[in-house]
Amino acid sequence: MSSWASYPSLEGATVLVTGGASGIGASLVRHFGAQGSRVGLIDLQEDAGAALVEELRGRGQEARFAAVDLRDITALRAAIDEIVGALGPVGVLVNNAADDTRHAFAEVTPEYFDDRIATNLRHQFFAAQAVAPGMVAAGGGAIVNMGSITWLLGQSDLPVYTTSKAAVTGMTRALARELGPKGIRVNAVLPGAIMTERQIRLWKTPEYEAQVMSGQCLQRFLEPDEVARLVLFLASDDGSGCTGQDYLIDGGWA
Ligand SMILES: NC(=O)c1ccc[n+]([C@@H]2O[C@H](COP(=O)([O-])OP(=O)(O)OC[C@H]3O[C@@H](n4cnc5c(N)ncnc54)[C@H](O)[C@@H]3O)[C@@H](O)[C@H]2O)c1
Repeated sequence: MSSWASYPSLEGATVLVTGGASGIGASLVRHFGAQGSRVGLIDLQEDAGAALVEELRGRGQEARFAAVDLRDITALRAAIDEIVGALGPVGVLVNNAADDTRHAFAEVTPEYFDDRIATNLRHQFFAAQAVAPGMVAAGGGAIVNMGSITWLLGQSDLPVYTTSKAAVTGMTRALARELGPKGIRVNAVLPGAIMTERQIRLWKTPEYEAQVMSGQCLQRFLEPDEVARLVLFLASDDGSGCTGQDYLIDGGWA
């Protein structure tokens, strides 16, 4: 990571990453750790979350993990309180957790619809609500919400996930207006096809590769670290003028 930018404003900052135990979230945790941030992560994968914290501590970095299912807002609030108690008020929140499990339009029940919204959208709002007072007291902060290009492409096979990700963009714009006067910036990052462990395991077939490459300008798959580096910029003071926007990182697809 040493050949990439470092951001003095992230050194010593408390950063909270949801869904930080694997995939893009784990890359975010490692990147913020390498910047000297104090990193709190929340995830339902207990073993992976605990192992990642040990990895960071082994490098002399500060990290704290809370095992929580983000669909439970009471548990989310308690986890944020615990992380703030250990690491200090959150200066940067990355709302990263989501689950892109495929689901057929005709088979979605009201209960499953609510479950997908709770998994892919609702916790982003309540995590922002929980950290905002601390950011206001500190004179500012940065929130990055992970969206997706799925709704820009009009992708099928996961309609409630796609609906949630469209709402992430609307929510981002609303919260940027709400919190901008208090010095808090809120942006959305919309990845394309990023080769996490899960994506490789579930979707990386020759057919999928052909589909992605026919859409992208860049003729290679993007990596989680490339997304993390964009988030670092938006979270840092180097991104001080950026708020209320979508930042696409999709190799030129959407
Ligand atoms: N990888 C891609 O190609 C891609 C594309 C577009 C958008 N995104 C977005 O980027 C973000 C990260 O995606 P990823 O590919 O790294 O996903 P991933 O599935 O690899 O990792 C998601 C993490 O969130 C956690 N998580 C899921 N549901 C949770 C819950 N209810 N409570 C607590 N933790 C939970 C998982 O345990 C996992 O660690 C997501 O918001 C996703 O929608 C990813």
